[in-house]
Amino acid sequence: MKEKYSPDFTVVNIENITSGRWPASIHAELIDSLWVDIMTGWDHVFDNMPDIWKYFSKDDCKLIRPANFVASEHFSLPWDGYRIINKNNKRLLVIQLLWEVFMNHKVDNAFIKVEEILSQVPKSDYDAVIVEFHRETTAELYGMANFLDGQVSAVYGTHTHIQTNDAHILNAWTGILCDVGMNGPFESVIWADFSSVKKRFLTWIQRGKIEQKLSWKYVINALLIDVDETTKLCSNIENISFTNTL
Ligand SMILES: [Fe+2]
Ligand SMILES: [Fe+2]
Repeated sequence: MKEKYSPDFTVVNIENITSGRWPASIHAELIDSLWVDIMTGWDHVFDNMPDIWKYFSKDDCKLIRPANFVASEHFSLPWDGYRIINKNNKRLLVIQLLWEVFMNHKVDNAFIKVEEILSQVPKSDYDAVIVEFHRETTAELYGMANFLDGQVSAVYGTHTHIQTNDAHILNAWTGILCDVGMNGPFESVIWADFSSVKKRFLTWIQRGKIEQKLSWKYVINALLIDVDETTKLCSNIENISFTNTL
């Protein structure tokens, strides 16, 4: 993909890189060592404490946190909620947001937070701006994308693991994709082996270890965003999805 598309920047969501569950430090390091400029997460990022803190404590940790994370004296995070990456004389502002529906946490209002960030960071500081909205439902993503239409280069979703087929450009030239999808086992229930989760569907009893589906059949999902240098808005958006089974 690197050779085919030659992206200026690469953003990778790492929240479930270790066996579909969470990021372990050793795997975060591995992704870090590839051609990755910035990493995102979130709701499972802390499921493997304290191990993951090893990677997160690094000065040059590539992970950003959700900008609307509720930080306080009780639990603060060392990283930025957004970051400008400067590479080859191009500057990309990446903002990550998180929402609460079907998640086990509360966050500050993502809409108000992103509005604050965009008013604080001068437009002259970046050449493109993308917003990753880690959330469950389609309406939330479309709400956010319409809210930011004309202000950011693209808004895309992560978290459901299943890529949607709706990549397009909104009226005021903001690119949108509802969910980028995962890289992982193709014949699975969003990474899990069906036999290990079957009982949950049939009995409502959430017991037993969820096992990762081990298979050579994988799916690779990604999103390619082209940004116009003058307007800083989207000139092309393309969802990428392939498996080794077809
Ligand atoms: Fe998630
Ligand atoms: Fe996930």
